[in-house]
Amino acid sequence: MKVSVIGAGNVGATCANVLANREVCNEVVLLDIKENYAEGKALDMWETSPITYFDTRLTGSTNDYSKTAGSDVVVITSGLPRKPGMSRDDLIATNAGIVKTVTENVIQYSPDAIIICVSNPLDVMTYCAYLAANTSSNKVMGMAGILDTARYRSFFAMELNCSPKDIQAVLMGGHGDTMVPLPRYTTVSGIPVTELVSAERIDAIVERTKKGGGEIVNLLGTSGYYAPGAAAAQMVEAIVKDQKRIFPVCAWLNGEYGMDNIYLGVPVVLGKGGIEKIIELDLNKDEMALLEDSAEAVRSVCSVLDDMKLF
Ligand code: NAI
Ligand code: 2OP
Repeated sequence: MKVSVIGAGNVGATCANVLANREVCNEVVLLDIKENYAEGKALDMWETSPITYFDTRLTGSTNDYSKTAGSDVVVITSGLPRKPGMSRDDLIATNAGIVKTVTENVIQYSPDAIIICVSNPLDVMTYCAYLAANTSSNKVMGMAGILDTARYRSFFAMELNCSPKDIQAVLMGGHGDTMVPLPRYTTVSGIPVTELVSAERIDAIVERTKKGGGEIVNLLGTSGYYAPGAAAAQMVEAIVKDQKRIFPVCAWLNGEYGMDNIYLGVPVVLGKGGIEKIIELDLNKDEMALLEDSAEAVRSVCSVLDDMKLF
């Protein structure tokens, strides 16, 4: 199995490093537009192999897509990250052009690849990749839900002083401040979180999660990468190993949740076919209203992409 990661910056390199260390596939190709950057990162990672014990081959490439040929999965992380004071949506003008060109190159050499978009604004860049790839929607998806849910789960683990392994949760909607963490679908080893944490504290954790990306940007001066890189690698692993994992993923909706023609975060089954199924939860009225608000926010950024007339 071959996986290519486009963009060898913070998120791309972290993702490649997790893929290699977990031996998710035989080969990882890291590609960047910056001269020798991906080659340097790939070599540095390969030199850890005798220490951390993996044999996944790592190749770096400066914008030579022939090296990515025949990839089973491609992760797109190329594009600008946020700086303090910026929203994810501020990135659209630059990142749309990058994601479009990158996707066209990827598909030229790997027409059957499953594409995972990470670049921001996530839901809209995933839509952009879908338009550029001109392939079936189950093969183009975005990574955000695993990251946002991981943040939410990690905050509950801090609150309860318990293992994050025991927190399970669902979070839906767009990758922005309108995302929809769902306390009703959050459990601690099967115990509803509502039995363990006060409503007031749950609300505080929901709010912290919605601003979780910004919290890291304010601390680092750029966006997070350990958790985003690991989250993208977890999606790759589910696909490459045909694990049929259930994860929140940015997926193309075709009537699910009463919505059409939009990429939005929903629970899906991930396996070798990409998004093999979208799971429709029985959301209550309040939850559905929040999801609709989030979809509206995504649609308004999509209209900025449409106005750019790239397609
Ligand atoms: P970074 O700046 O560290 O890396 C981006 C890399 O993309 C750079 O090395 C740059 O040279 C490369 N690049 C730019 N144009 C390119 C092109 N045309 N072809 C190939 N490579 C190109 O940024 P970072 O932190 O890795 O973030 C990458 C993207 O991921 C950003 O848009 C960021 O907002 C997004 N992101 C999304 C998350 C999510 O949950 N979906 C979480 C974290 C970041
Ligand atoms: C994050 O949530 C900024 O999307 C990036 O960390």
